[in-house]
Amino acid sequence: MKTLVTDSIDEAAAIIRRGGIVAFPTETVYGLGANVFDEGAVARVFEAKGRPADNPLIVHVSDIEQIDTLVNHITKRASTLIDAFFPGPLTLVLGRSTLVPDIVAASLDTVAIRMPANPTARSLIAAAEKPLVAPSANLSGRPSPTTWQAVLEDLDGRIDGILRAERCSIGIESTVVDVSNEPPMILRPGAITHDQLQRIMPDILNVSDGDDRSRHSPGTRHRHYSPLARVVLVTPDDALPDGTDAFIGITKRPDLPKFAVVCKDASDYAARLFEFFRECDRSGLSHIACERVDDDGIGAALMDRLRRAAE
Ligand code: TXA
Ligand code: MG
Repeated sequence: MKTLVTDSIDEAAAIIRRGGIVAFPTETVYGLGANVFDEGAVARVFEAKGRPADNPLIVHVSDIEQIDTLVNHITKRASTLIDAFFPGPLTLVLGRSTLVPDIVAASLDTVAIRMPANPTARSLIAAAEKPLVAPSANLSGRPSPTTWQAVLEDLDGRIDGILRAERCSIGIESTVVDVSNEPPMILRPGAITHDQLQRIMPDILNVSDGDDRSRHSPGTRHRHYSPLARVVLVTPDDALPDGTDAFIGITKRPDLPKFAVVCKDASDYAARLFEFFRECDRSGLSHIACERVDDDGIGAALMDRLRRAAE
């Protein structure tokens, strides 16, 4: 299969309307899009990524009205969070409507919904005239792509097209909140922070608070990306382990290895992390040190991804 790289939203949308699968930018990471109601196209998304069939997909919408066809009921909780954070880097898990194919939701009775803030993403969904499933556009087990080139690196010859655009501004995946059960629970930390959510919904829980609903967060069961390299987490006071050949963090320390990325702050660090991991793999670097950050704000999501990479 030839993978077309295009700058044209109309051309990308036409491929999707014909049953194709096309990667596109969002503010978090690039997604691999297909018409949610086209089971054949959705099956090809799983196949192209090498994604296990028991890990459900997020459905992306361009306007609020589209949500009605996908869920059985928009609860009060959901509508509060939609008003506050859509469009943006927040995904809501709700009761699934019978119109959503089983393959999308891995046969769960819930479905995950997100309305991206990125205008290119929303224009594409609108032009495709259907909500789009879109997992991150990487091979399973690799870091999520934050550039169109990273998508091409993983999926060239496996998908129909890539809608080429700028680097993703946030760089880590959306916050996933389950509102299908009481009380609501954050299943995956992301750019919409625990504090922001708690201000609006004081009783919201974190999956780490110990409720066994974490069993129902399928993504957390699967092996997560860790680079080929060994990843260790360090503080600014730790000496870097002997043989460290790459570093990313926010402190300009005296013992930086030759390949070092020093970021402005935690947001900048989050935006650059996945591309840094890919660069280390491309260069065959084998010992990576990542600086720990404060576990609040965007730092909570960043630390979540860093801990998984270091596992
Ligand atoms: O920022 C993002 O969310 C990106 C962009 C492309 O929108 N997408 C993304 O998709 O990260 P993916 O497939 O890589 O991650 C989806 C996460 C997985 O952890 C999956 O298990 C969870 O959402 N998820 C999807 N449907 C679910 C459901 N019904 N219940 C619980 N978790 C669900
Ligand atoms: Mg993913």
